[in-house]
Amino acid sequence: MAFSKYFPISMLALLCLSLFSVCVRADFYRDMTLTWGGPRAQILSGGSLLTLALDRGSGSGFQSKDEYLFGKIDMQIKLVPGNSAGTVTAYYLSSQGPTHDEIDFEFLGNLSGEPYILHTNVFAQGKGSKEQQFYLWFDPRADFHTYSILWNPLQIVFLVDGTPIRVFHNAESRGIPYPKNQPMRLYSSLWNADDWATRGGLVKIDWSKAPFTASYRGFAADACVANAGRSSCLNGPQKSWWAQSLDAGARLKMQWARKNYMIYNYCTDYKRFPQGFPPECSLEM
Ligand SMILES: *[C@@H]1O[C@H](CO)[C@@H](O)[C@H](O)[C@H]1NC(C)=O
Repeated sequence: MAFSKYFPISMLALLCLSLFSVCVRADFYRDMTLTWGGPRAQILSGGSLLTLALDRGSGSGFQSKDEYLFGKIDMQIKLVPGNSAGTVTAYYLSSQGPTHDEIDFEFLGNLSGEPYILHTNVFAQGKGSKEQQFYLWFDPRADFHTYSILWNPLQIVFLVDGTPIRVFHNAESRGIPYPKNQPMRLYSSLWNADDWATRGGLVKIDWSKAPFTASYRGFAADACVANAGRSSCLNGPQKSWWAQSLDAGARLKMQWARKNYMIYNYCTDYKRFPQGFPPECSLEM
């Protein structure tokens, strides 16, 4: 191939180092800890596949071994097939403590053939209440799709198969808290939330369909790893995503997704904020 004519093998190896996440195979044994649910959480296929299950006894969950302070994190997820009503699959970054930061994807299950809801939220210094919800433009239980979080000092971007669906800007200069000092770990869990998840709690879990199973593969964290209060990026981040913001094409894609698939936005919920919307709402898009 033409490429190798110009780049000796050693250069390719270097390229692999800088694109670490792309060249190193995902290995859940190396990257994740199964945290609850006993045998309901499993790592399979030599580390390349992870599954979580929910049955009458319990849900299950896992977390990343590393903590991150900024990064671009991708995961392919295939949600609970068939009737998943009443189940929630949460996939999020979170720090510890009462004034924690959090960046959330939550997938609210539904009856067979009825749409999942993708619920998103951002917590900064303990304060959340920034919910936005979406339908997806595909059936998320039919196959794996990539859910990504880009978190840098400028903004947080939620992406689905590379299409941005939501941006939360760093507007600290206007007094709006932004997650930037507390390292966050990645967490995922599958649990029973049938008191609220599907049609506001109207549709309950059908336990005759248990166990419910969600599957994960292709985890890639191109991130600054925080270790004992120090970041692996202290000597300058040297990461392409560090100053990344949305270009015109990405902005158009996001407009398309939000126009056609957004079903709830706290920034337009007049009933909830009769006295006026939170200040970050004026920075939407
Ligand atoms: C489930 O399906 C109903 C009916 O189509 C829909 O109103 C609802 O938004 C769907 N999703 C959830 C999680 O309730």
